[in-house]
Amino acid sequence: MNVKQTSDTLPASSAISQWPDTDALYRRFDALVKQPIRPLRRDAMEQVLNYFEQRCQTSKRMAEQAKHVIPGGVQHNLAFNYPFPLAVTQVSGAHMTDADGNRYIDFLQAGGPTLLGSNYPDVRAKVHALLEECGPVTGLLHEYEIKLAELVCDAMPGVDMLRMMGSGTEAVMGAIRLARAYTGKKRVIKIGGGYHGWSDQMVYGMRLPNTGRMEAIGIPRGATATTQESLPNDLAAIRRKLQWNRLRGGTAAIIVEPFGPESGTRPVTKDFNAQLRRLCDEFDALLIFDEVVTGFRAGMGGAQAYFGVTPDLTILGKCLTGGYPMAGAIGGKREIMMMLVGGIGTTAKRAFVGGTLTANPLSCAAGYFALQEIQRTDAAAKAGRAGDRLRQGLEQIIERLGLPYVAYNMGSIVHLQTSGVMLLDTSNLLKLVRLKNEARQRKHMMEEMGAAYAAHGLITLAGSRIYTSLADTDAVIDDALNRFEDVLKLV
Ligand SMILES: Cc1ncc(COP(=O)(O)O)c(C=O)c1O
Repeated sequence: MNVKQTSDTLPASSAISQWPDTDALYRRFDALVKQPIRPLRRDAMEQVLNYFEQRCQTSKRMAEQAKHVIPGGVQHNLAFNYPFPLAVTQVSGAHMTDADGNRYIDFLQAGGPTLLGSNYPDVRAKVHALLEECGPVTGLLHEYEIKLAELVCDAMPGVDMLRMMGSGTEAVMGAIRLARAYTGKKRVIKIGGGYHGWSDQMVYGMRLPNTGRMEAIGIPRGATATTQESLPNDLAAIRRKLQWNRLRGGTAAIIVEPFGPESGTRPVTKDFNAQLRRLCDEFDALLIFDEVVTGFRAGMGGAQAYFGVTPDLTILGKCLTGGYPMAGAIGGKREIMMMLVGGIGTTAKRAFVGGTLTANPLSCAAGYFALQEIQRTDAAAKAGRAGDRLRQGLEQIIERLGLPYVAYNMGSIVHLQTSGVMLLDTSNLLKLVRLKNEARQRKHMMEEMGAAYAAHGLITLAGSRIYTSLADTDAVIDDALNRFEDVLKLV
């Protein structure tokens, strides 16, 4: 499928052993959100909070201190912060240790980028060597910029050229600008509930579909005036939007997380992306795959190779720099990418992007060596098998305990839905208003679950998502399953 795979690259085994049965999943989501929440028993929750009080004193003290100088005491939107954030001192492979010396299985993996496991020694050594030689930044061309770009261009079917950016958010901003410059059109359709970073134009329909400007505080209406959202898997609705737009100047691009909004929290059907490709071709819109999460977790060719669908533009981040800073890039077809040609005094028509620290040698070397290692070790497939093992075990526990929860995975991206807050039906405005209070309760339950997992030695992403890595051996997964079972028995 990966037409550009070079002959000296070993054929990798599939990172996704099986695409979830989406019909069955949506029936189970529906059942989960139609029944009252099933949180932990109150006495058990008290024990969980005791853990934090008794065993995490240093974290607690630091969290208090942080609140004086950092708004809310946390700088990271992934941050697990109920009842307070844990301060971490050490990470290695599949584990992390907090400031009080408590050890956890690390299923946050920094929010996704460390597919090799945290703080991978070989990559760290290469980064050290680079720092000795030229420091983190020069402002001029460095060989690792070229090496990283060549590696990505070889691996990803839709990437002929690559431009590094400072983050996934910046790359999305740049890609949308590029799509508008190339097509001469301005409207952009995103799939509702998807996360594409926090730029003015993309804080729209975040987390829950149909929520439009709900989170767009501080963003002028004009900034989101040409952003539209449409429900995942509803191709007829997307077609209607494209038709409507055609009468008003057209659609520049459809942007999609190819596994479905929020890293596949609401999974798309297996042929959804191929259908989007057809629609984009029919309506002369560009197809943008936001592969910030799927980029390299779905395999070296990303979700585009997995689905056999070539987007016009690709957004990369996270794994691109192996967990090191400044993870972001726009990739795409040569003809489109050439509109980014930079340089002082350029007079050609171009889409302006920039950044003092973009494409620095540190990020590029880290990314190059991490991706080489991901390729050599077949890390996406191995992490994917760990994800399968974890999901199967979770399904068995859920069934044994007679709980309404839902576990599913796409390789190394594992979802464990207990409160269903991300799955609420917001298909019309009335439902949305009615659900506001319920959403709050379900969100709190998710926080409680996250805290309970942590008190049992498991760090997850916000209590509902789990990223596996190459470091997750069968022994790590089986240990984790015992801990998950201990928590789920407390319901
Ligand atoms: C799919 C997707 N796109 C874009 C972003 C934004 O990337 P960054 O946090 O690097 O700005 C994220 C971050 O989680 C993401 O998951």
